[in-house]
Amino acid sequence: MRIDLDPQQTAETQAEALFQEIWSEDMEDQVAWRGDSRYVARLVASPHQQAISQQQQLVPSQPFKLGSSQKGSLDNLILEPTTRRSPAAGEVEIRVKSTGLNFRDVLIALDIYPGEPIMGGDCAGEIVAVGAEVKGFQVGDSVMTMAQGTFSKYVSVNASYVVLKPENLSFEEAASIPINFLTAYYALHHVAQISAGDRILIHAAAGGTGMAAVQIAQQAGAEVFATASPPKWEALRQMGVKHIMNSRTYEFADQVMEITQGQGVNIVLNSLTSGDFITKSMSVLSLQGRFVEIAKRGVWALSQVAEIRPDISYFLVDLVGESQRQPELIDSMLHELADKLSNSLLQPPPLKVFPMEEVISAFRYMQQAKNIGKIVVTQTTQQADAIKPLNFREDSTYLITGGMGGLGLLVARWMVDKGAKHLVLLGRRSPDDATSQKIRELETAGAQVVVEKADVSDLESMTRVLHKIEQSNLPLAGVIHSAGMLSDGVLENQSWSSFEQVMAPKVQGAWHLHQLTQNQPLDFFVLFSSVASLLGSPGQGNHSAANGFLDGLAHYRRAIGLPGLSIHWGAVSQVGEAAELGADVRLQKQGMAVISPNQVLESLELLMSGSDV
Ligand SMILES: NC(=O)c1ccc[n+]([C@@H]2O[C@H](COP(=O)([O-])OP(=O)(O)OC[C@H]3O[C@@H](n4cnc5c(N)ncnc54)[C@H](OP(=O)(O)O)[C@@H]3O)[C@@H](O)[C@H]2O)c1
Repeated sequence: MRIDLDPQQTAETQAEALFQEIWSEDMEDQVAWRGDSRYVARLVASPHQQAISQQQQLVPSQPFKLGSSQKGSLDNLILEPTTRRSPAAGEVEIRVKSTGLNFRDVLIALDIYPGEPIMGGDCAGEIVAVGAEVKGFQVGDSVMTMAQGTFSKYVSVNASYVVLKPENLSFEEAASIPINFLTAYYALHHVAQISAGDRILIHAAAGGTGMAAVQIAQQAGAEVFATASPPKWEALRQMGVKHIMNSRTYEFADQVMEITQGQGVNIVLNSLTSGDFITKSMSVLSLQGRFVEIAKRGVWALSQVAEIRPDISYFLVDLVGESQRQPELIDSMLHELADKLSNSLLQPPPLKVFPMEEVISAFRYMQQAKNIGKIVVTQTTQQADAIKPLNFREDSTYLITGGMGGLGLLVARWMVDKGAKHLVLLGRRSPDDATSQKIRELETAGAQVVVEKADVSDLESMTRVLHKIEQSNLPLAGVIHSAGMLSDGVLENQSWSSFEQVMAPKVQGAWHLHQLTQNQPLDFFVLFSSVASLLGSPGQGNHSAANGFLDGLAHYRRAIGLPGLSIHWGAVSQVGEAAELGADVRLQKQGMAVISPNQVLESLELLMSGSDV
């Protein structure tokens, strides 16, 4: 057990506190006394972490797309960096402002949607680039579109699927239109051939597609029978729907027959496939009626339909497939819809808007079928700017010890991409060919790189390095202390020298950096520690202890008003010493997750954008 007594107290008081701790029956193994307060060690989520634990996502400042670290659970949704794709001939590139969430996206995230689909089927945004042979669009146009992968910052799409956004609609409203209104319009006009006097049963009529279908059917002069769960009935009443029934029970079947005096409806627009819903819905279809299925799961094959209703016409709607077969049809329907929306002949549905940071909550909201109308995920500038973008100074020097190691070079590249122009990379050895190549790449990207051959645990060498930086007129603005080495072995097999080797860069090295820079106004002083110091790690007693010193030093610096951040990295895959020694693969086999180089950078961005540095 470790006890830290209050140095301000008398020897008697200290002795009393010590006595109390020795006899204390609780299990705390780290206790500090300050005045009358007894402090114990606890892991607490940083404000950023809290945001993440409430399932908020950090929206990267660079291009990103929604992906999944492992399909099958909504918790695994992540915003991952991606590259922009310039529009090909016939395409435009759109900066996405708002994205419509469709049930299909939830099924994709849960890995129960057939094929290899991509999440995000429509959006609204601004054109940022126009490909060859595109007519009618220019950069700056506000548009709405049906496209693939629209939970992203940019999307390039065939211009046939794009239409100018009606001016009377916001970007959020416009994002609620394409998939739902195209599906409803296509299903009712092109498939069911709806006309005045038709009776139509629209299931789940309070959802995005349902509400679009209700309006389109009303416009066509049809009589609408709608189902929805009772809390959503009022919304349908306000749309002028007279026959509203429960979508959670089968009562609708009797009710439809009663209202229509046994005649039933001519068209069913179906999206309820569980239990007996399909059978019940077919039972209310009049002779030679039209059954239009827009669901994807649990749908019937034509042969099944023929067994119980050989008289009816049965259609499975596949808008995405149709859009690939007939882009010109999508183009003309989009224009018709945009016209009707501009003239207020159609209205966007009620919206539930989530910022991109809360994309997981948006998916969950839809999974729980809570929405009336449409769920939209937005990236308005207000939201995007909520996280302060991290930029490094052009006119200052940044020192990375261990800068030619795996993480050092990774971080160097990231800093250069974020504006750093002067880097000092420090290590004991000269760079090998691969490292020299990476350094040349940093230089090509616009940075001036100084390689310092020095041992960070040697005070004289470090004094020289820092003096040189001081002389350069490019003041030191930040330190990343990444120097370190491993010499693993169970304690019995450890020698003093194996301890010294591992401790030197972390303990003496960090202390030298602290002493030599403490009078300089640094933006950050970041120490690369390890999860081994927090949780322990078999065979890494020296490494755990050495990193424990880094953690203590960060606390100490913060306590005296200097920047200090110690990061407990887990094992990193692909780059760095753990990966070189195969530890990442070993840990993965033991069920311990490793972090990818991208996650290292995302975490750094998260931590260094806050006040924790
Ligand atoms: N990679 C991981 O999974 C992981 C996990 C947790 C923590 N960390 C920590 O993150 C840091 C970077 O790890 P890494 O994976 O990038 O390791 P790495 O690839 O081995 O890089 C570490 C660098 O530190 C330099 N170095 C070692 N001792 C030094 C000294 N006395 N003076 C100056 N430079 C020295 C080494 O270069 P020379 O030999 O040329 O000096 C080496 O290039 C380390 O502190 C490590 O403990 C890494």
